[in-house]
Amino acid sequence: MTLFQSSTCTIPTIHQVPRHIAIIMDGNGRWARQRLLPRIMGHQRGVEAVREIVKTCRELGVEYLTLFAFSSENWRRPADEVSFLMGLFLKMLKREVSKLHENNIRLKIIGDRNRFDKILNQHIEDAERLTANNVGLTLTIAADYGGRQDIMQGLRAMIKARPDLADNFSEGDIEAYLSMHYAPEPDLFIRTGGEQRISNFLLWQLAYTELYFTDTLWPSFDGEMLKSAIHSYGMRERRFGRTSDQVQGEAD
Ligand code: IPE
Ligand code: IPE
Ligand code: MG
Repeated sequence: MTLFQSSTCTIPTIHQVPRHIAIIMDGNGRWARQRLLPRIMGHQRGVEAVREIVKTCRELGVEYLTLFAFSSENWRRPADEVSFLMGLFLKMLKREVSKLHENNIRLKIIGDRNRFDKILNQHIEDAERLTANNVGLTLTIAADYGGRQDIMQGLRAMIKARPDLADNFSEGDIEAYLSMHYAPEPDLFIRTGGEQRISNFLLWQLAYTELYFTDTLWPSFDGEMLKSAIHSYGMRERRFGRTSDQVQGEAD
């Protein structure tokens, strides 16, 4: 069983501050290009934005922050950019994990690890083990992650573990096998960089998530902008299929 209930099976309790924020950190390359810098400088500066957003989420009491760092389709990029991103990921794990641990942050990495090298995988495992019992923010980095791939691996794992369910399973059954089984569905999705698409991020989990798009490029995204996104979220009526009158009636 998963810890959290699906938005399509029950109506979740809504909190003023989103419990779970999921972000597509887009626009690093354009940030660099605007400054006549190589794309990789944008990725480098993007790390500073990550630090600030993690800090702001902790201060605001957000429980889960999920960041899309590298998609299954990003392997299609030029080899030197891919290898820079892998190197940056390793460097960040080496440099930041002890600080995350001091701040009571639990780190999780979701996605397919098969194409990562051994050293990177070792650091991922060590970081997850070290921070596993932390009860502050849960920070999830999605790396070599794709929503479709996740659903497919979940189905395979479920059918392997529970062959009895093979032709008779329900939504609730598969959720335990998806890579975000430990978190409630995102309340708020943010995409920076101006594009208005999901790009194969958390397809299953975004079913009833509030979407927020901003033109700000990721390296320029800061705590105040996050607060604006949360403010916009707070103004919305989450109906989960019901009428507005029903929602109002429940609030009274
Ligand atoms: C997002 O920024 C970071 C990754 C996908 C790794 P981009 O690198 O996609 O930046 P743009 O979209 O080209 O500006
Ligand atoms: C999505 O950004 C993936 C990440 C931010 C990691 P992309 O820049 O790869 O998305 P598309 O290709 O523009 O849809
Ligand atoms: Mg992009």
